[in-house]
Amino acid sequence: MNPNLQQLQPYPFERLRLLFAGVEPAIGKTAISLSIGEPRHAPPAFVLAEIAANLERVSNYPATAGMPELRHSIAAWLQRRFHLQAVDATQQVLPVNGTREALFAFAQAVVEPGPQALVMSPNPFYQIYEGAALLAGATPHFLNCTEESGLLPDFASVSEQQWRQCQLLYICSPGNPTGAVLPMTQLQQLIALAREHNFVIASDECYSEIYFDENSPPPGLLEACAAMGDNQYRNCVVFHSLSKRSNLPGLRSGFVAGDAEILRQFALYRTYHGCAMPPHHQLGSIAAWNDEVHVQANRQLYREKFSAVLAEFDGKLDVAAPDAGFYLWPRLDTSDTEFARRLYATENVTVLPGSFLGREVQGINPGANHLRMALVAEPEQCIEAARRIVRCLV
Ligand SMILES: Cc1ncc(COP(=O)(O)O)c(C=O)c1O
Repeated sequence: MNPNLQQLQPYPFERLRLLFAGVEPAIGKTAISLSIGEPRHAPPAFVLAEIAANLERVSNYPATAGMPELRHSIAAWLQRRFHLQAVDATQQVLPVNGTREALFAFAQAVVEPGPQALVMSPNPFYQIYEGAALLAGATPHFLNCTEESGLLPDFASVSEQQWRQCQLLYICSPGNPTGAVLPMTQLQQLIALAREHNFVIASDECYSEIYFDENSPPPGLLEACAAMGDNQYRNCVVFHSLSKRSNLPGLRSGFVAGDAEILRQFALYRTYHGCAMPPHHQLGSIAAWNDEVHVQANRQLYREKFSAVLAEFDGKLDVAAPDAGFYLWPRLDTSDTEFARRLYATENVTVLPGSFLGREVQGINPGANHLRMALVAEPEQCIEAARRIVRCLV
């Protein structure tokens, strides 16, 4: 067996199951889960209709590169959303079956394995980055995101030598779990570093369409390149998904876009990896990328939910509205695991202890004493959960 498999950590939800083992939740209280980041707003009906109308397309094998029509609608969306002058649909866009598999597969294609190879990522982080680095034969290098660093990765802590060893940098903006957005200037500093030290930036932007102010959407990595006058997007690749944007997590539809030379090699890898998107899903995806009305309505639902829930917490919990995304990331003055267990036992509400999403670096796990709450359920449920959380705090 591949010895690197032994290095994989238990997934946070497995750790949550163990944490709750033997605990009986309070009788008479309905279960409310804020632990899983699975969108629960309704998917757009016109996308479902498009998929249903094209079921017979399963009689053909899909191409790894996806249909030209899908790549074109993605390129047009990228241009509109990130003010890009030019995106080459043939060479700079590749559909993927959700960003999870793509974020994992990307490291396998990019990394030259070896004892010196570093793959950097935020800490706490979306767990795929670590597993992808380990199975690619590299060492994960975590950058703490603390209140002191504005919940953004502490890039200043990286030494010259470590930048030289870096082959791949994952960034996640808006961040899961912190909700922090990397500003344009910082994206541009990272692009300059990537070119100086010849590493690739994989920018996970799958929460980019969940934001609060319609007039200031989070910037993206390709946008930062374009603002530097580079339409080739050298060293840069972005990951986008319909899962959160369009409430279609089961469609498994996303894309990777950016540096054509990197994408050429990634496409080669994917030919063997063998995970082309089913044809009817591609057609449904075209409909979804071509429409913004449902995305705006989706944002409005989150906006209302966040303001109602934050009002419940006001003055009672150390929590701020995130820059973007659908998570709250409150800080506790007690242990996150103990609180999560007590909350489950006494109030039948499930939240994810922040320490499960981080690793200990330089003596601290920046997820410790934090909770991740996904505000994905119906507003009444989220508000009821907030009230129960407040009761558990006293
Ligand atoms: C930060 C982050 N990246 C990527 C994904 C994967 O999303 P999908 O594979 O549905 O596109 C998730 C899912 O929760 C996530 O939180």
